[in-house]
Amino acid sequence: MSVSKPLPHDAARLHVTGAARYVDDVPAPRDCLSLAFGLSPIAAGRIVSLDLAPVRAAPGVVTVLEASDLPFANDVSPSIHDEPLLSGHSVHYLGQPVFLVVATSHLAARKAARLAKMETERRDALLTLEEALEADSRFEEGPRIWQKGDAGEAIDGAAHVVEGSIAIGGQEHFYLEGQAALALPQEGGDMVVHASTQHPTEIQHKVADALGLPMHGVRVETRRMGGGFGGKESQGNALAVACAVAARATGRPCRMRYDRDDDMTITGKRHDLRIDYRAGFDADGRIAGVEFEHYMRCGWAQDLSLPVADRAMLHSDNAYHLPAARIESHRLKTNTQSATAFRGFGGPQGMLGIERVMDHAAHVLGIDALELRRRNYYAEMEGGGLSAPRAPEARPPESISDEKKQGDGAPVGTEARDGPDLPEDPSVDVASRGALGTVPQGCGAPAPEGAQTTPYGMAVEDFVLGGLTGQLAESCSYAARRRAVTEWNAANPILKRGLALTPVKFGISFTLTHLNQAGALVHVYQDGSIAMNHGGTEMGQGLFQKVAQVAADRFGVDVCAVKITATDTGKVPNTSATAASSGSDLNGMAVKAACDTIRDRMAAHLAKRYQAAPEAVRFAEGRVEVGGESLDFAQAVKLCYEGRVSLSSTGYYRTPKLDWDRIRGQGRPFFYFAYGAACTEVVVDTLTGEYRMLRTDILHDAGASLNPAIDIGQIEGGFVQGAGWLTTEELVWDDDGRLRTHAPSTYKIPAASDAPRVFNVALWDGANREDTIYRSKAVGEPPLMLGISAFMALSDAVAACGPGYPALDAPATPERVLTAIQTVRDGF
Ligand code: MTE
Ligand code: MOS
Repeated sequence: MSVSKPLPHDAARLHVTGAARYVDDVPAPRDCLSLAFGLSPIAAGRIVSLDLAPVRAAPGVVTVLEASDLPFANDVSPSIHDEPLLSGHSVHYLGQPVFLVVATSHLAARKAARLAKMETERRDALLTLEEALEADSRFEEGPRIWQKGDAGEAIDGAAHVVEGSIAIGGQEHFYLEGQAALALPQEGGDMVVHASTQHPTEIQHKVADALGLPMHGVRVETRRMGGGFGGKESQGNALAVACAVAARATGRPCRMRYDRDDDMTITGKRHDLRIDYRAGFDADGRIAGVEFEHYMRCGWAQDLSLPVADRAMLHSDNAYHLPAARIESHRLKTNTQSATAFRGFGGPQGMLGIERVMDHAAHVLGIDALELRRRNYYAEMEGGGLSAPRAPEARPPESISDEKKQGDGAPVGTEARDGPDLPEDPSVDVASRGALGTVPQGCGAPAPEGAQTTPYGMAVEDFVLGGLTGQLAESCSYAARRRAVTEWNAANPILKRGLALTPVKFGISFTLTHLNQAGALVHVYQDGSIAMNHGGTEMGQGLFQKVAQVAADRFGVDVCAVKITATDTGKVPNTSATAASSGSDLNGMAVKAACDTIRDRMAAHLAKRYQAAPEAVRFAEGRVEVGGESLDFAQAVKLCYEGRVSLSSTGYYRTPKLDWDRIRGQGRPFFYFAYGAACTEVVVDTLTGEYRMLRTDILHDAGASLNPAIDIGQIEGGFVQGAGWLTTEELVWDDDGRLRTHAPSTYKIPAASDAPRVFNVALWDGANREDTIYRSKAVGEPPLMLGISAFMALSDAVAACGPGYPALDAPATPERVLTAIQTVRDGF
């Protein structure tokens, strides 16, 4: 059985030896030209005159294209056609592509692009959230508002109210391989495009529109990306379309890649935002209601901002049952890069809002932050995972069978929410209460109607964080270390330590419901080797390896028998972006369907031949057992081929149970939730604001993992990327709207040396209760939000400096930490 084995990434060897082929490594065909964009030097205004003569005269330049030269659609937008490939006269951000240089080399194109003589007329640019709000510059008419109950009333009637605001910075994707594309003209005007993209079908669509072709005239191939992280869902469109129009204009192959500075200057990033909050709590730290206002800076074009902002709203509850909530979301239009998808797709931002509320409330109420969080958790339901039923039925997790975990759980109740009071003493040993059947978490009478729903009305049936948190708290000795940190801080005036354990609950599915579908194409050749293709793309996350393991398992062969082939719009059509962490859920199921179709045809043929029942034919360990015969898989295939059995099939899958109304903010946008928790300890130098991550412990729910080695890699990488977002990765624009942090010299991503000194990652042992591929769970994005524990640990360390609440903004750079220390000492 190849599924669930910790096999290495299929391209691991190629990656480490430098032999893995990326788009820019595809050998250049003879006559291949290189492209570069000329960029807008202003953030808003008009280009009054553009003299391209010096560009055309530069060495190596073959041609230069402007918006007026484009034969068909001038549009690279993934949403509402508001994003031209080349600007025309009006420009909307500093860095916007204005013209396209086509030259004999990459360097020649780049050098020539700087020679244009441009006269511009500036308009006042809207750069900040405040400026956009003042000008009422936005992408939807007013704010989107979703509500549950009457939050205002609930807060006004509460014993304690916390109120505040958190500014949250954006994030550069910093994929190691920059954006790249290559277009190869074909006979009859057709085009083949190699693109570094998470979304080959969209590239196909955009290129077809730009060339005036039906989609069948364009084929897009993506073997792999050197990282995408959401930054290649839509941001690669411009390069692919540029290559295609230049190839059409010149009749020659054209390639384009952004240098790092251009990449950072041109492409969109994670949405930065401000969240204002007001929340009411009772004396025991239970939340009564919360109000959030999200002010998201979306940049100049709509891109994917609406679903990103929706997902931020959808994660405003994170792991907490909110009896009443009001979430208001403003999608603001500014003269900056068009903010786009980034691992978590708005979810991390929304989640940080409620985590801030919990941290703030814990400080105000004097309750240990983990204790306060757990008091507000959703209740666990039987069958949702490892729940902790009321004694005497209490039993250790090992005794709950898989069937049980997967079964349809009846609500066990919400008494944990208003049941027996838990101790408030922060020094109390939390580890002993939670996970292992010793705590009143999730026990009591059946949940009244609606008691266990999110602010958007979805029932939370698969909650496992009660048990998971308890297990992590125990394995990382949270209680003992909480005491040790307190003692350390009492004894040390300069270096302060901080500790935080934070949960993640992340919704899995595209919120645009129709995207939740996938296709596959599988061939079995007459020698028994298998070629597997599906609509998902490989960006380092290990999707291809996981899905190959599924294919191998269906035929009972070794994974080496399965050839992983490049994503290709000519093989599987109409695919969705590989995004929303749904790659293996969707494509794994589609491949399984294709394999099973072939396997069933083989079984039927062999059963007839050997006079056995088709159900009795077994495919395992490279052999096929039928009617007492044991055939080599290749032998069995040969017999089927000779028996004129079709050995090729497509497969298709669509996610069940989804039902979502985004305007009302009601329904079931997600098939299920993925969970995890992280505990991070930091030390802060209070003289400089500098800090180190000392230790992180993670327990993460990947369901029944398809490949634990790959999943753990995703969790480690996700955590570090999330911690980077909230600590050192800072984007700075100057007053002209110029991105000043456009290279690794000024933009600080975490290096290996920034990972926690001690880093323990484990997988939660539990299957998905929903019927996903082998009961696994999506794992790509959720672990990024485990990085919130690093941010909260910094907040905890700073809080040790004085009576005030740190109210840190993100990223918590050393400068911000130092400022917060001062605020805390002053007692604000
Ligand atoms: N891991 C690596 N190594 N590189 C990436 O670009 N992208 C992330 C995540 N993990 C990414 C990654 C993002 S944003 C998503 S949506 C998922 O992988 C997509 O792949 P999956 O659906 O197969 O998990
Ligand atoms: Mo991931 S942000 O959904 O590409």
